[in-house]
Amino acid sequence: MERITTDRARLYCGDCFRVLEELREPEVDGVIIDPPYSSGGTFSTMRKGDTYKKYCRSGSEFGKDKSFTDDNMDMRSFTLFLREVLFSARLKTKDQGVCCVFIDFRNLPAVADALQMAGRIWRGIAVWDKKSSRPQMGRFKNQCEYIVWGSNGDLPLERGVGVLDGLFSYGNVPTAKRYHQTEKPLALMKQVVEIVPAGGVVLDFFMGSGTTGVACMETGRRFIGGELDKEYFNTARRRIEDAENQTSIFAGGGGVLLIYAIDFDGTLCVDRYPAIGEPREDVIAAVLDAQRAGDRFILWTCRVGSRLEEAVAWSEARGLVFDAVNDNLPDMIALYKNNCRKVFADGYIDDRNVRDLLGVEI
Ligand SMILES: C[S@@+](CC[C@H](N)C(=O)[O-])C[C@H]1O[C@@H](n2cnc3c(N)ncnc32)[C@H](O)[C@@H]1O
Repeated sequence: MERITTDRARLYCGDCFRVLEELREPEVDGVIIDPPYSSGGTFSTMRKGDTYKKYCRSGSEFGKDKSFTDDNMDMRSFTLFLREVLFSARLKTKDQGVCCVFIDFRNLPAVADALQMAGRIWRGIAVWDKKSSRPQMGRFKNQCEYIVWGSNGDLPLERGVGVLDGLFSYGNVPTAKRYHQTEKPLALMKQVVEIVPAGGVVLDFFMGSGTTGVACMETGRRFIGGELDKEYFNTARRRIEDAENQTSIFAGGGGVLLIYAIDFDGTLCVDRYPAIGEPREDVIAAVLDAQRAGDRFILWTCRVGSRLEEAVAWSEARGLVFDAVNDNLPDMIALYKNNCRKVFADGYIDDRNVRDLLGVEI
């Protein structure tokens, strides 16, 4: 089985059971997994569809030829499969180690059963509010997914982990930024991995595109990952290695993901220049989400002088604090020992591409 080792990560390309056989006993502080949900429909015909049909927006080009396996079980098989793999994982987990399993409403009872059957103490359910989902007449929207969690025996209050939220609100990853059909937002995973003390080892043997691993790199944790699909494994490897390198390039860490330069008039607010137009709340919310995930934002506008100051104050009043204003990031200037006239960014966002770069329609 292919195995890659870096300073803070060990990654395996292979089936979850085979990956687990490779681990030492016990070396893991927390198991955090996002398994194939065997979901996507209430009826068995829907459940048997491929993951593209079940989890991707119909007509979307993204993920068309990249469905993944182990996602077509009925509830009985799914419970047994999960029980077996969680039991094997428990043998590699330290006493008091935690276990978190993502799931949607359909197999939520199965996960609670499997977690306990694998010998863990069930501690609760945290909620991921995706903020949107398909509306249906006369029904509540299924806009949440769940994190069923428990521990290996006792869970003392003093174990180097503070008070954590039980509700996480982050929109889905915009298609233009996706690596995986069912990718979890990085900002969400950075909050979830906090259940493991800083410096601890997190295990995810269904890592997909490696979001859990990236979250670990950016928050000072170590990571063991497994993934069956070679292409996803390669994506995960690249993302995790990049994240590990990034956190050491920028002294002080913090985990830089991407640098964006964002326009003001027409993008963050309706264009009524020189006045400031009505706020584009969805764009502002998407920028705040991206900042929480580690992205950096430079305000990039033709405004100068008092008009610029008004724009900065207006943004700050909405919680939007920029890393630089019409300038390079201070750490980029330090890194390259000059302040180039062209503002450096990975993406330049204005009203024409906000949909592609931030996933927001305006
Ligand atoms: C729901 S996805 C994980 C997505 C991930 N959280 C992300 O953000 O990219 C589940 C992954 O488990 C992988 N998988 C399915 N069966 C597996 C098995 N038996 N062993 C290891 N990985 C498996 C699939 O290929 C898929 O990429």
